[in-house]
Amino acid sequence: LALLISSPLFAETFVVAHRGASKQAPENTLPAFDLAWKHDADAIEADFRLTKDGHVVCIHDQNTKRTAGKNLIVAKSTLSELQKLDVGSFKGKQFKGTKIPTIEEVFASIPKGKKIFIEIKSGPETLEPIIKALNNSSLKPEQIAIISFKEKILLDVKKHAPHIYTSWLCNIKKKRGKPSPSFDSVLKTLKDYKIDGLSTSHNHLNTEMIQTLQNQGTDCHVWTINDARQAKKFIEWGVDSITTDIPHSISKP
Ligand code: G3P
Ligand code: CA
Repeated sequence: LALLISSPLFAETFVVAHRGASKQAPENTLPAFDLAWKHDADAIEADFRLTKDGHVVCIHDQNTKRTAGKNLIVAKSTLSELQKLDVGSFKGKQFKGTKIPTIEEVFASIPKGKKIFIEIKSGPETLEPIIKALNNSSLKPEQIAIISFKEKILLDVKKHAPHIYTSWLCNIKKKRGKPSPSFDSVLKTLKDYKIDGLSTSHNHLNTEMIQTLQNQGTDCHVWTINDARQAKKFIEWGVDSITTDIPHSISKP
């Protein structure tokens, strides 16, 4: 059923490499993205933040401590300061000297026909430079999705670039046996903010929820699945994409 009714961007279940092939290579770097393509991923997911001097760089955390050893706060550092850091060595000496990529470098590395899930980690002010970089890139609209935990940013995307696909990162948890936020409130937010997809953690997702979403024309994306059997289950349930750190071990139908 899902195959018949999901949007044109996701005609089958896509494998999305979370921060690139981040189990085997340093997350959010060009080597991790290259490895994801070698491992046949359909898309990469990448996190972006704004620097002090207005550049958009690919990094998950607010600071560089975990991936570089040295602690710089991204929002208080310049691109030149950030690009002096080595964010590869923490994953193995073969990655020594790997730099934090700019959004332009990431966009330029995406092969034809492959996709990127752009997660905006910093505030709404990050959107304008991202749209500028998209417009200056050779990426086509069908290669791009913007995702965020902040639904307001996704509404801004629709205001400034209505053709760009959006998906809301919403972690549905269970509180006292009930989903929190409630599924009804999730559905309302998706509608109110004109969002194309729900990206949710796998914990409390079931077939009924997936079908409800897809019946109302909303795609269902699931993260982060690092177990091949679990991935098979979600593929059978018809989710639109599976985000994983290990794209090489997720087999598509
Ligand atoms: O794709 C969803 C996932 O990336 C959200 O969590 O913390 O890895 O950015 P996080
Ligand atoms: Ca992310």
